[in-house]
Amino acid sequence: MIKVTAAIGNGTAVRADAVSVGFFEKDKKNKKGKTDSRGRGIPPGAGPLDRALNGALSAAMKSGDLAGKPGEIHTLYPTGSPDIPRAVLLGLGSRTKVKSETLRRAAGNLGRHARKLKLKRVVLVLPALKGKKGVEKAAAAMTEGFVLGAYRVPSRGKSKSGRPGRKNRKTSLPALTVLARDAGALPRVRTGVRYGMAVAHGAWLVRDLVNRPGNELQPRGLAAEARKLARSQGLACKVMGKADLVRIKAGGILAVGQGSAHPPCLIQIEYRGGKANAPTVCLVGKGITFDTGGISLKPSQNMDRMKYDMSGAAAVLGILSAARSLKLPLNVVGVIAAAENMPGPAAYKPGDIITQLDGTTVEVVNTDAEGRIVLGDALAWAVKKKPDALVDLATLTGACAVALGSQAVAMMANDDDLAGRMESAGVKSGERVWRLPLWKEYRRLLTSDVADQRNAGGREAGTIAAGMFLETFVDAHPWVHLDIASTAWSEASREHRSKGGTGVGVALVTRFLAEFSSRG
Ligand code: BES
Ligand code: MN
Ligand code: ZN
Repeated sequence: MIKVTAAIGNGTAVRADAVSVGFFEKDKKNKKGKTDSRGRGIPPGAGPLDRALNGALSAAMKSGDLAGKPGEIHTLYPTGSPDIPRAVLLGLGSRTKVKSETLRRAAGNLGRHARKLKLKRVVLVLPALKGKKGVEKAAAAMTEGFVLGAYRVPSRGKSKSGRPGRKNRKTSLPALTVLARDAGALPRVRTGVRYGMAVAHGAWLVRDLVNRPGNELQPRGLAAEARKLARSQGLACKVMGKADLVRIKAGGILAVGQGSAHPPCLIQIEYRGGKANAPTVCLVGKGITFDTGGISLKPSQNMDRMKYDMSGAAAVLGILSAARSLKLPLNVVGVIAAAENMPGPAAYKPGDIITQLDGTTVEVVNTDAEGRIVLGDALAWAVKKKPDALVDLATLTGACAVALGSQAVAMMANDDDLAGRMESAGVKSGERVWRLPLWKEYRRLLTSDVADQRNAGGREAGTIAAGMFLETFVDAHPWVHLDIASTAWSEASREHRSKGGTGVGVALVTRFLAEFSSRG
């Protein structure tokens, strides 16, 4: 894992492969764009560094070559300062508009750059955000961005770079030192670094799990990962196998899993960080380790991607890991429904009528709408814990990508207060959510002649139909559903997002939990 530390300094008396500093684009108060409001041409706080670099920073700014737009990154090789071979300048956009997300993205570019240049140690001069907690927030966002930007998929299968099947992450990871201006700011920088590390660690774990191929991670493997996390972090973990699922009448998980040679399971993993009257939040994750569609088989094009259909389950583990490292003062129960959706000889079929854990009967009209079925059981199970809030994460519908693309998580909820909290956590974490309605009129989409509901509607309102299906299992408990189908996988590496699994949900729900634990 990448190491991030906090230290006091201004970037001068350091030994590192690179010192990095942000800079802003010209704004109205600063028309020429070559000098800041103090006329020094470099960001506030970077004066001593500029002098140590013999004016290389101010010269670069004065050249006019650097616009300071978000996403810009420039490497200078100053002469005559042997301790600092490189200075990396990060564009941060307008000085008055810079937010946590700006810094997260800029630091993501820095992390990616450091990894590419094989830098061992990078020192970061921290730009402060506005407000009392500005320094802490900046440290958190940049730590998170840097660590996630430096992430790479482990090249397990490349036989030339190691023995096949063996983890190969030979290239050393860059370490980061985040600088606090003085001793007074150091504790706040430390707190920020700790928060950023907890989130990045969690998302890193999610990415590693999501990027594992379907033949290497099956329901049992997912359970083993949950147990491993529980053991290393001191969490309670219980795995219910096939016999247990029969006993608790989890007819949905059993039906979806019965076409596969790898039996399904229900995983429960628990973090107890709260006192007696602290809130309990249940996190429910969809853990389809591979989704072929079952008898309603998916087209083969891009089917390989369906290994990411356990991203919700992985996110639950990542969030628990973050909550535990931050010692959040609340209780979190993770519930994961794990199964492989295969068209085997015993597979469930269109037309089947199944009975779910809470007694709800479902007419299966499409075996590819399997996520909502396994989640139905998992939600009904979670409700028994009488949680103060219920949050599920699932790669549930392709329609979610049609509606929102990769810029937002689709959110549905039966509780406006919870929805508002999640929305605000979305803005703060950079993982934004957009709410879709669950009006009762949509229930018609799922009307069945032979059962309480059917598992799929038509082409209309696909994401909402799935949400409506889930709502029947939460029994009026405060609940938020997050459809991460269009955000859990990325086709390209950009900023702090890497190609493959993104780890979406960890930053969002960790922020949600941090604020929920101190709710008024
Ligand atoms: N796992 C898929 C949803 C999905 C599709 C996630 C594409 C990511 C990318 C889910 O199980 C599914 O197949 N949903 C169907 C539902 C339909 C049959 C009602 C879908 O969205 O097509
Ligand atoms: Mn499916
Ligand atoms: Zn699926």
